Amino acid sequence: MDELGDKIEILSVDLLDRHRQQVQALRDLCAPIGHQLGWHYLLDLVWILENLGDPAGLQIVDAGAGLGLLQWYLLEQKAARVFSVDRVDRSEVTLTLRARYRIQGVRPGDLKPSMAIVQKNIRAAHGSQKFVSALRGLAGLLLIALPKAFPGRLMIYNQDLTSMSEIADNSLDAVVAVSALEHNAPEMLPGVVAELMRRLKPGGVLLATLGAARERDWFHEPSRGWNYTEETLQRLFDLPPSIPSNYGCYDELMATLKDCRELRENLSSFYSQSGDNGMPWGVWDPQYQPVGVRKVKHQ
Ligand SMILES: C[S@@+](CC[C@H](N)C(=O)[O-])C[C@H]1O[C@@H](n2cnc3c(N)ncnc32)[C@H](O)[C@@H]1O
Repeated sequence: MDELGDKIEILSVDLLDRHRQQVQALRDLCAPIGHQLGWHYLLDLVWILENLGDPAGLQIVDAGAGLGLLQWYLLEQKAARVFSVDRVDRSEVTLTLRARYRIQGVRPGDLKPSMAIVQKNIRAAHGSQKFVSALRGLAGLLLIALPKAFPGRLMIYNQDLTSMSEIADNSLDAVVAVSALEHNAPEMLPGVVAELMRRLKPGGVLLATLGAARERDWFHEPSRGWNYTEETLQRLFDLPPSIPSNYGCYDELMATLKDCRELRENLSSFYSQSGDNGMPWGVWDPQYQPVGVRKVKHQ
């Protein structure tokens, strides 16, 4: 990890050039695990990874992980244990992911047995597809039994971030949260932050990306997320006003984001399928910018 201190940083598109190899590695991981990236997620991911440093051997919570890319990338970078926490039920995580990674439930109900997924897939298939599905399931089970390329373990925890009693206090090296915490109402967020900080070891770091707002907080309906001013982030994350921040460059950074050909030309296909998303009908028109918050747990 670099010189650690608290900070608030609107994510500049320069991050993409600074981390070319990592950007490519993240893009390359999408296909084998069947993932599509949100329009600003590469920025969020490389900012978090830049601030985290080498994750090898670390115990990390991915807060509001969903089935997002970061948790899998951290395992591939040899993180020791990644707790994947989300209120969304991921107990039926695919056989493809189970074949590639060591995955476990924190509690018995957090991850269904692989056999239950095979049976469900066979039931859902029709006619001759049933036979194909059964063969695929069998192949899947064999792959799951093979040794894994990555030493770490993903711990699925289908739980709200406000109460994570199965994770011990002072036990984590880092908490990462990719575009997740803004889905909590402002009055709820300090409770979430306090719960996450409690789980960190002294010296551990919380790295969260959210949406930035220029003059007043506002709610972005299509993504159902809040965008926050610098003052609101300071208050919600209990950070002093003296910490470094680049909100003063909000307009310049927004202009370079709007002009970013690389992000504009690589929008995931799901954006063009509806008008009810962060980039309606796939037309590049960013309404907000991602911002990173780094908060260190002091002794
Ligand atoms: C936009 S998604 C991002 C998912 C993932 N981080 C990624 O990189 O794709 C936000 C996720 O945060 C989760 N989330 C937000 N607040 C939460 C909370 N208080 N407890 C549990 N999950 C939460 C939501 O359920 C959702 O899955």
